[in-house]
Amino acid sequence: MNSRTLTKIVWGLLVGGALFFLLYAVALVHHGFSTRTAPSSLELALARSLRTRSIPKHYKTLQNPIASNPKVLAEAKAHWADHCAQCHANDGSGDVEIGRNLYPRPPDMRKSATQQLTDGEIYYTIDNGVRLTGMPAFGAPGDDDLASWKLVAFIRYLPQMSAGEAAAMEKLNPKTPEEFEEEKCEEEFLNGTSGGESAWLQIGEMDRAHRVCGVGKAAGRRRRRQQRRPRVLRSSAKYLKLAPMYGAPLQDPVSNAGGA
Ligand code: HEC
Repeated sequence: MNSRTLTKIVWGLLVGGALFFLLYAVALVHHGFSTRTAPSSLELALARSLRTRSIPKHYKTLQNPIASNPKVLAEAKAHWADHCAQCHANDGSGDVEIGRNLYPRPPDMRKSATQQLTDGEIYYTIDNGVRLTGMPAFGAPGDDDLASWKLVAFIRYLPQMSAGEAAAMEKLNPKTPEEFEEEKCEEEFLNGTSGGESAWLQIGEMDRAHRVCGVGKAAGRRRRRQQRRPRVLRSSAKYLKLAPMYGAPLQDPVSNAGGA
């Protein structure tokens, strides 16, 4: 190949690349920067491959120095429930309100795409985060952050974790002020009435405490809120305000339904 052909190829690649980026930028601006839709599989595959390539070689071959056992998993579960579950869900599926609305969505970590990553790749992602996504960096630089290695052990355990175990983690999830108040009220109720009598009496008192303090209602409300798609706007005021954004006719659905 002579030097003229080579110059032509280089110019072709440069102009082609610049054109591609220009079109991509125009498409981005036209489409908007909303996170409502999930990225296309092409975009996901490209970003994932770039991300995996960017992980230093030294990390890729690292193996988890922590052996998985019930104590390690219990610690990691508490850590996960408190720091990761709001985006990744207790069961690692990513099926929670925040997770469902991030761009890109957190992957279902029980699936092979995550499970096929090496221990070192998972560890590196936890410690360093992922740019331009919701994934924050959690660790200090270095490869001896034991808390992150325990999380790697937990991620490996996710595919075999039962639904019951995931549900039990709910009590470790961060509490809303409402849930915190319920718990405080229940504790005060029990301290005020329980005098160390028989176990049966205490169980009866627990039931009464639950009724008096409405224990579980706030958690139930939170669960229902998380299951609801945020796009379903129930209140007519909200609907009217946001209707133009969704291209919906500007009508009050509630007064329409009732008034006709
Ligand atoms: C604010 C939301 C958020 C929180 C909190 C969060 N993550 Fe993530 N995480 C994400 C998103 C979004 C991705 C997808 C990144 C991508 O596509 O490259 C991700 C990706 C990952 C991945 C890579 C999985 C894969 O297959 O590519 C791992 C591992 C991970 N997170 C672990 C954790 C751990 C452990 C915690 C808690 C210590 C945590 N994350 C907390 C949003 C979050």
